[in-house]
Amino acid sequence: MLVKTARFVISNSVLEKCPPPQLPEFAFIGRSNVGKSSLINMLTNHKKLAKTSSTPGKTQLINHFIINDTWYLVDLPGYGYARSSKKDRRAWKKMIDNYLLKRQNLMCTFVLIDSRIPLQKIDLEFMSWMGTHQLPFVIVYTKTDKLAKKKIQLNIEAIQKGLLNYWETLPQEFITSAENGAGKDEIIGFIDEINELFEKP
Ligand code: GTP
Ligand code: MG
Repeated sequence: MLVKTARFVISNSVLEKCPPPQLPEFAFIGRSNVGKSSLINMLTNHKKLAKTSSTPGKTQLINHFIINDTWYLVDLPGYGYARSSKKDRRAWKKMIDNYLLKRQNLMCTFVLIDSRIPLQKIDLEFMSWMGTHQLPFVIVYTKTDKLAKKKIQLNIEAIQKGLLNYWETLPQEFITSAENGAGKDEIIGFIDEINELFEKP
C-alpha cells in the first residue's frame, strides 16, 4: 500500500469525541521524546503533519490522522516525562487507559522504544499493563540512525534479553529511523495486513 493522503482529523482528551470507530486504527505510544510524532510523519511522507519537538511533552492529546481516507493513525502523548506533576501523570493515565481499553476499532498499538538506551522500567511496566489487559502491541525501535549499526544491534539484543525475563515470547518488532526512513515499508506492510482483518463494529 502507498500512503497517498494523510490528513489531521481531530485532537481530543476524551474517547467520546474521537472519530466514529468505523475504520481500522493504529496508535503510537512510548516515552516522551522517543519519536512517536516523528515516526508518524515519516510513515506518511510529511514533515509537519504531527507536531514534533526536541523538548519532551510536546504531544498532549489524542490526535487522529486519516490515511488514504481508509484508516487512522493516532499520535498519543508520551509517558515518563520526568518533569510532569503527579496530577498530570494521573490525568495522562486516565485518558490513555480509557482510550486503549475502550477504543473499539483499535487494531494494534505500536510501543516505541529508544534503540540507543537500556530497557527502561517504565516501558516494561507499560507493556505489562498492555499484556494484563490482553491488548495487542508490537515494538518499534526508534532513532537507529543515531548510533553505529553494531552498537544498535547490541542494544536491541540487550533490550530483547531484558524483555524475555518477563515475556515468554517477543511481539513483532520493527527497527526504524524517522531520519532515514528505515522500517517504513515493514510497518506499512504490517498495517496493510491487519487492515484486511477489520470488521466494522
Ligand atoms: P512527545 O510528543 O513529547 O511525547 O515526543 P515524541 O515521542 O512525539 O517525539 P518527537 O517525534 O517529537 O521527537 C522528539 C525528538 O527526537 C525530536 O527532536 C525529533 O527530531 C527527534 N527524533 C525523533 N525520531 C528520530 C529519529 O529517528 N532519528 C533522529 N536522529 N532523531 C529523531
Ligand atoms: Mg509527540
